[in-house]
Amino acid sequence: MLAGKRILLIIAGGIAAYKSLDLIRRLMDRGVTVRCILTKAGAEFVTPLSVSALSGEKVYQDLFDLTDEADMGHIRLSREADLVVVAPATADLMAKMAGGHANDLASTALLATDKPVLIAPAMNVEMWGHPATQRNAATLAADGITLVGPAAGDLACGEVGQGRMVEVPDLIAAIEERLGRTIKDLPLAGKKALVTSGPTREAIDPVRYLSNHSSGKQGHAIAAALAAAGAETTLVTGPTSEPDPLGVSVVNIESAREMLAACEAALPCDIAICAAAVADWRIAEEAGSKMKKNGGSPPSLAMVENPDILATLSQASKNRPALVVGFAAETNDLIDNATKKRARKQCDWIVANDVSSGTGTFGGDENTVHLLTDEGVEDWPRSSKAAVASQLTARIAAKLAGTDA
Ligand code: PMT
Repeated sequence: MLAGKRILLIIAGGIAAYKSLDLIRRLMDRGVTVRCILTKAGAEFVTPLSVSALSGEKVYQDLFDLTDEADMGHIRLSREADLVVVAPATADLMAKMAGGHANDLASTALLATDKPVLIAPAMNVEMWGHPATQRNAATLAADGITLVGPAAGDLACGEVGQGRMVEVPDLIAAIEERLGRTIKDLPLAGKKALVTSGPTREAIDPVRYLSNHSSGKQGHAIAAALAAAGAETTLVTGPTSEPDPLGVSVVNIESAREMLAACEAALPCDIAICAAAVADWRIAEEAGSKMKKNGGSPPSLAMVENPDILATLSQASKNRPALVVGFAAETNDLIDNATKKRARKQCDWIVANDVSSGTGTFGGDENTVHLLTDEGVEDWPRSSKAAVASQLTARIAAKLAGTDA
């Protein structure tokens, strides 16, 4: 369940910091992206080099590092994570958190985050038992922060008692539990979604193909938004240069027939969104070797119709998704053509967009869409493809919850 998740790990100053190196490895083995903040005191126990070598990412250390602020400020750092983990959490950092201090990168990121926070305290037994630390621990728990440990046993200082950072497997179990709880609260938790994106390529011969201008930006943004809303999301995509969205299972295909097979393999699901620009036709007979000019007249390419994935999913007698959403890419009579497409293919909703030259819909970062449902046509304002994806996801969540207008 951790695959695709992003964790911001804050390593504070304590002998238990060495366990955090193992934690990074174990999390990465599970497909987690780990970004680390190493406090000044933490760097006395583990080196930035070992942390960055293990995480494969730059280590963040200084609040006033101008390059970081330009490129990845503390706000982004604290928000671009599904969970913030502090391990080890020292008495000092806990006190800062409880008091709302923000005088270094770790405390500032902790104050700025809008994500759940889990901490693994580690300190001397007397420090842990001190009324001040106990007050801070109670304040943090009341603020919704999850405290894991400390465990009892031999302490690095030679004393025995409660103060050891919990072992890495217990920390991972707590992280899984905390993230699981977060996911359960999301609007599409427990739902399965299928999204198609990008162009298809229909081979003419081993070196040539028919395709179109789809970049995959809109479809990928939708898959990312559905996953962020808690849906277990499969993205079936043609060739694009878009990065795989986090937390999404990606199936790469080339042709329309491969896309259909991958979609059928992803069933059953609750939501299907067909944003891919699928080639309507393919070459009837793909040449087995590169076609040559040979001085004669150009070849004529006979074409046959491809299967229609949207229509197949919409009209399936078995495993039809509860909500099937198609797109209509039109260069003229947008609403009229989209209305006919919705009726012909029998999908529930159609998102209509104008792809005529000059609109920038293909490949651009923005889109102007119209949502066609049983209730009529909604004209959405021009916005980023990410905003279109979020708005569509919110509508889908409301529809499935029966709370849409
Ligand atoms: O990828 P971008 O650069 O971000 O651009 C986004 C987009 C313009 C590609 C996207 O917003 C969009 O409109 N996608 C649908 C493109 C398309 O093929 O539209 P269409 O009107 O030809 O097809 C109608 C619907 O049937 C679509 O949902 C399409 O995915 C589906 N279809 C079409 C043919 C086919 N053989 N199988 C299908 O499933």
